[in-house]
Amino acid sequence: MSDNIIIAPSILASDFARLGDEVAAVDRAGADWIHLDVMDGHFVPNLTFGPPVIKALRHVTGKTFDAHLMVSNPDALLESYADAGAEIITVHAEACPHLDRTLSRIRELGCRAGVSLNPHTPVDVLRHILDRLDLILVMTVNPGFGGQSFITPMLDKIATIREMVAGRNITIEVDGGINLETAGQVVAAGATALVAGSAIFSGDGEAGYRANIDAIRAVAKD
Ligand code: DX5
Ligand code: ZN
Repeated sequence: MSDNIIIAPSILASDFARLGDEVAAVDRAGADWIHLDVMDGHFVPNLTFGPPVIKALRHVTGKTFDAHLMVSNPDALLESYADAGAEIITVHAEACPHLDRTLSRIRELGCRAGVSLNPHTPVDVLRHILDRLDLILVMTVNPGFGGQSFITPMLDKIATIREMVAGRNITIEVDGGINLETAGQVVAAGATALVAGSAIFSGDGEAGYRANIDAIRAVAKD
């Protein structure tokens, strides 16, 4: 397995009343990327935050901002996310009728382009856009909420995507239910970036976050 697994804490599981401090703490605790779950109450039932909050957080960390847009019409605000400081912008295939164009636009804005697939979405939607992609985000739960259980059949899906991307420079990221039990399994299947919310923010402050990140990193390497 790889020594270079990216750990991306999802701030969805952090204390929103202290969001800036939480991002700073998880940065110091060893996060590689900060995973930003944007929810619009339409594509997914839940609502979180958008570009103004991301822009405010940009001042508290230099870590890569990994924006996961769980929204129905991502095209409308792509520029705002780029301006706010998102380096990776990931849209959902299910929300984009003109996915090829959307991905090109994300790159034109100077960001890395990602596509996320809900658990039921077949990998075939990726086949003809592989050259437009920097990242594939495999949902290992149904999006909308933190703290859900990992959907085991997604391990086969990750392995299929790993074969599909072949030698391309595409990150395979997984999101949902990643913990000490599942982290090793997804890395064995081919994931190279792990989002984790509750498994990291269940810790008590910076020291707890560091212990959780280190533990996930350790099982991802075994
Ligand atoms: C779910 C979000 C995830 C979520 C993961 O819609 O995309 O990023 O925060 O939470 P855990 O790690 O608790 O499953
Ligand atoms: Zn996410």
